[in-house]
Amino acid sequence: MGDALDCLERLSPASVDLIVTSPPYFVGKEYDASQSVKDFVAEIRRVLPAMMRCLKPGGSLCWQVGNHVQNGRLTPLDAVIVAELQSDNIFLLRNRIVWTFGHGVHEGKRFSGRHETVLWYTKGAEYHFDLDASRVPQLYPGKRHYKGPKKGSWSGNPLGKNPGDVWDIGDVWGIPNVKASHIEKTEHPCQFPTALVRRLVVALSPKGGLVVDPYLGSGTSAVSALLEGRNAVGCDLERKYLQIAESRIQSLIQGNLPVREDIPVRMPDPDESVAKLPPHFRPMMETVDG
Ligand SMILES: C[S@@+](CC[C@H](N)C(=O)[O-])C[C@H]1O[C@@H](n2cnc3c(N)ncnc32)[C@H](O)[C@@H]1O
Repeated sequence: MGDALDCLERLSPASVDLIVTSPPYFVGKEYDASQSVKDFVAEIRRVLPAMMRCLKPGGSLCWQVGNHVQNGRLTPLDAVIVAELQSDNIFLLRNRIVWTFGHGVHEGKRFSGRHETVLWYTKGAEYHFDLDASRVPQLYPGKRHYKGPKKGSWSGNPLGKNPGDVWDIGDVWGIPNVKASHIEKTEHPCQFPTALVRRLVVALSPKGGLVVDPYLGSGTSAVSALLEGRNAVGCDLERKYLQIAESRIQSLIQGNLPVREDIPVRMPDPDESVAKLPPHFRPMMETVDG
């Protein structure tokens, strides 16, 4: 248990493969120290040098954030972080991943918010990225080139397609946010889903690598790292959240942790020939092929 900065400073220099975290948004949650965007900025500035220090060259830093809303006035927190790091020559932005979901507060005076983002930064220009580990099945894997020299041959990658930078409930893969009906829901008020973090873990860290979340909450980052054969370190100011995290890790070790797999939400029409799985595609595609 402890403060994010203390946790980061205890780690050896250049020892961490991936930091993936959702920091406090300073919007009035029970753990928020204030409701000020300025305090959010100050918090990011406070921990960034320690993150820089403990990350390996080529390691990744992922900030998962939503909006700060006060008196109806909205500030996208990813914009704040981008502005903060815009002139940094070490942390380089690779993707702004939009994570959309179907549920949330129904607003009366603006359009309801249905997305948050993940800012993926790398430490330096050379970095670990395993695209093949994070590919997702095509909805229609049996598509073929319809013209040119490859006409008639299968056009899709047998390993699946690049998931893109919109991780969308309306696409093949749905990653719902963790609300009451979600099987991963704990008492923590702002949990993110393991499916979101696991995709980052497999793409941005090697097997056996070290994944860190200095604002661990209910332990989702640690659980996701362990599920994918990585090591995990995390901390949180609140003992009650760490108890949830510990209990989830215990359940994982015992093999009875509820985990919502990254499963398709839209099924292809089985009668379409392009929905059939070509024989050389990898077996995991069968989940989509039905
Ligand atoms: C958005 S939540 C993270 C939730 C987490 N991703 C999960 O899936 O449960 C932010 C967390 O940061 C913790 N926190 C706030 N200030 C902190 C600080 N200075 N050091 C460490 N943790 C802090 C809060 O207690 C809260 O659990």
